[in-house]
Amino acid sequence: MILRRLRDTEEDAEAVRTVSAATFGASRTLPGAPDAEWPPRRVALAHGRNRHLARTDPGGCWLAVDDAGMPVGAALSTRREGTWGLAMLAVLPRAQGRGLGRELLAATLAYGRACLRGIIVGSEDPRAAATYRRAGFTLHPAIRMRGVVDKVAKDRLPPLDGAVFEGGARQRDMMDSVDRRTRGGAHGPDHDLLLRQRRLFVSDDLAGSGYCYVGDDGTVELLAATSRRLAKRLLTAALLSLPEGTEARVPSLTAEQEWAVDVGLAAGLELSTRGYVCLRGMRPPAPYIPSGTFL
Ligand SMILES: CC(C)(COP(=O)(O)OP(=O)(O)OC[C@H]1O[C@@H](n2cnc3c(N)ncnc32)[C@H](O)[C@@H]1OP(=O)(O)O)[C@@H](O)C(=O)NCCC(=O)NCCS
Repeated sequence: MILRRLRDTEEDAEAVRTVSAATFGASRTLPGAPDAEWPPRRVALAHGRNRHLARTDPGGCWLAVDDAGMPVGAALSTRREGTWGLAMLAVLPRAQGRGLGRELLAATLAYGRACLRGIIVGSEDPRAAATYRRAGFTLHPAIRMRGVVDKVAKDRLPPLDGAVFEGGARQRDMMDSVDRRTRGGAHGPDHDLLLRQRRLFVSDDLAGSGYCYVGDDGTVELLAATSRRLAKRLLTAALLSLPEGTEARVPSLTAEQEWAVDVGLAAGLELSTRGYVCLRGMRPPAPYIPSGTFL
């Protein structure tokens, strides 16, 4: 078994995707679908993500290959202005339980050694939770909300108390400032990819500034704002924007994000517990909803 750096190639991007699909798809409790069920759009999103991180963080992205050269594990991490993040960690079921996960995590943590803050959106896999805690992360249990926001629910949501518009690259500076204030480090180059792959909603007025991304699978992620009032407004707008019948998903909410839970309940979403937001050197940012990948 060797660990090697991930390369910015389609072949390596596919290696990470297959490890992830086989690992998460094999689990009954973790989100994911068997490899054959991945639609082309989802494959393209995963390749885009893997290649982006191999480019931005070549020292933080690792692939484990067995003696036959087959990929068996992967770990991708980022460094953004003193904030280290784990974008992905997976070990194929046949290679699990033999220390490979710990080794992969160690390689990514070594890359983040100079960072004061660390963030991981952890799954409910007990091995993942154990590994992150032993690495010094505080485990904050997380809530996930989901459900279809139908017409009745949309009518029930309070009207927006200010303007929300679709943003783009011109909001980069604003988003970086809001990130520095909420989580201590801007997302910088990640916005280039996020803007290509997701819709961006922005609110920027005398009451404050904020933004959030919404994927075409209905997932609301990476919401950051300078006040709870703005955060509520953005989440409400994101839920209202979903096409009829799309299931909304709002994962990774710690107890600090009650403002989001209140919006979700008003929209008729269901709450359940799901995994952890794992933090080192920082309190849960708020108001904030992390991205599972870009955190
Ligand atoms: C989580 C995962 C990456 C860990 O990799 P692994 O190679 O199986 O794990 P390791 O053999 O390195 O063991 C990790 C730790 O979990 C501990 N562990 C194993 N089984 C455990 C259990 N049932 N409960 C608690 N801890 C457990 C091990 O003792 C080890 O701790 P140690 O380093 O102090 O000895 C891997 O199991 C996996 O891919 N799981 C599914 C996908 C996933 O959840 N990824 C994490 C996304 S955030």
